[in-house]
Amino acid sequence: MPEKKLILSKEDIARRVQELGATITRDYEDSNLLVVGVLNGAFIFMADLVREIKLDLQIDFVRVASYGMSTTSCGEVRFSKDVELDIKNRDILVVEDIVDTGQTLAALYNYLKERGAKSVRTCALIDKKERREVEATIEYVGFEVEEGFLVGYGLDCCEQYRQYGEVFHLKENKVPREGA
Ligand code: IMP
Ligand code: MG
Repeated sequence: MPEKKLILSKEDIARRVQELGATITRDYEDSNLLVVGVLNGAFIFMADLVREIKLDLQIDFVRVASYGMSTTSCGEVRFSKDVELDIKNRDILVVEDIVDTGQTLAALYNYLKERGAKSVRTCALIDKKERREVEATIEYVGFEVEEGFLVGYGLDCCEQYRQYGEVFHLKENKVPREGA
């Protein structure tokens, strides 16, 4: 692991995930909830979050690739795995690891609405505001972080560090660049 600074401890995350789960449980009491996780980054957050939502729900995943192996978004969003359940008239909660430029979330929102979802809301572990390019409504935010490149608890850099239980700030000069 390269030089890193702890941003969120296991305890911080567990406490917040429990709170988010309780809020979502209240808000979706009378709904037909479908939780859609965005692979790969959301896999750990999603696993913890759904266990704190005390409702009948269904689970599906999409995979959106906007980063490739670089740490800056190229603005283009590709869906490389689609939702498999029928989303028509469903109340959908999108679960994201982190919202950065907002491009992924905006594209996903439009896509799910076009496919007939009744409602689409988002729960993101981290709202990182420094590079927002498009307006993104995030109804459930775990933590707001101003800047930096974060890894751990599902978040990666070149598919590494996802397995850490905490979230770290990866020091800029240690972030491998594309082709490096
Ligand atoms: P956006 O489309 O720019 O909002 O990018 C969203 C996606 O980029 C997230 O789902 C993450 O997979 C990735 N991403 C953005 N910022 C970070 C970061 O600080 N660490 C790891 N992945 C990030
Ligand atoms: Mg990623």
